Amino acid sequence: MPIVNFNSSRMSGLLEFIESLNSWGPRSRELGLGTFEQSLGVPGLAPEDNCFLLEEDGRVRGFSLIFPELPIGRSVLEMGIARDLEGTPQELDLVRRSVDRARHIGAGVAHICVTGNPSRAKMLEAEGFSLVRVYWDMVWSQNELPDQEIPPGFSVRSYQQGDATALTEAQNSAFEGSWGFCPNTVDQIEYRSQMPNTSNQGILILNDGHKTAGYCWTCLSPLNENTRGVIGMIGVVPEYRGRGISRTILLASMEYLRSLDVADIGLQVDGTNTPATRLYTSVGFEKVGELHWFELLLS
Ligand SMILES: CC(C)(COP(=O)(O)OP(=O)(O)OC[C@H]1O[C@@H](n2cnc3c(N)ncnc32)[C@H](O)[C@@H]1OP(=O)(O)O)[C@@H](O)C(=O)NCCC(=O)NCCS
Repeated sequence: MPIVNFNSSRMSGLLEFIESLNSWGPRSRELGLGTFEQSLGVPGLAPEDNCFLLEEDGRVRGFSLIFPELPIGRSVLEMGIARDLEGTPQELDLVRRSVDRARHIGAGVAHICVTGNPSRAKMLEAEGFSLVRVYWDMVWSQNELPDQEIPPGFSVRSYQQGDATALTEAQNSAFEGSWGFCPNTVDQIEYRSQMPNTSNQGILILNDGHKTAGYCWTCLSPLNENTRGVIGMIGVVPEYRGRGISRTILLASMEYLRSLDVADIGLQVDGTNTPATRLYTSVGFEKVGELHWFELLLS
């Protein structure tokens, strides 16, 4: 099966394929497809060069995206394949093409996250990838949120136009040194804040007076016919750590998500990130699965 580069005339075929991988209802379909389409426009991705499609008689049967994260020397591969092609030489071709591309753009390592696809994990290991991180898939589905008061001097507000620079600085400083975190540019933050899966009200900022102490970026994702609220990113800038304020911002964000009538709230977290896993467990998130990150050294 030929592997071709994405271009805009192939968008509808790609979206049709994405839909075929999911069992969405009308509302979740719009969210899922809109978010996927917009994610191809994130500054720095260049899908004409970094998105490949596996085609059979002109029909999309698989895709891969190669996200260049060269400031940290890596490229993240994301793939989707038709169920009947899982574990086949066609899937392997797509993996190899994506790895070649990652190498070509100068990445030192390729990372790929595998969830519930044992044949892909085996295939990656046979290609020289190794498991480097286990992330936890966590879900909160209780009826009531724990009570929480905002500490004196602090306030929670929503993101507004003009906040992109401050949010970029807060995010980059909170996540500096975190495994797999590539510093964001202001353009990327601005673009992501306008994606269909988020909103200005869903990005909560914790201020200490006028200073940004932390933030939580919430999103929505399709969950079969329903919608799941997602804690996308939460960060407390280093000088405010260890005082319990992450709980304030997390609970405020969960309250916001609940106001949207989501089915539940989910997140993914590095299983070795003790402050984060303790925080999530303490408000009632439960581990429901694992995501496995595989790495291939390219140089
Ligand atoms: C995760 C993070 C938001 C926590 O913020 P925080 O306000 O400093 O955390 P808290 O003071 O509320 O502590 C949360 C829990 O972690 C524990 N903790 C805090 N620092 C810790 C450390 N260095 N080692 C082990 N446990 C720690 C606290 O004791 C608390 O657990 P407890 O309630 O069982 O006592 C912050 O560390 C951060 O921004 N990290 C970088 C970004 C990140 O990893 N985000 C989460 C993934 S999306």
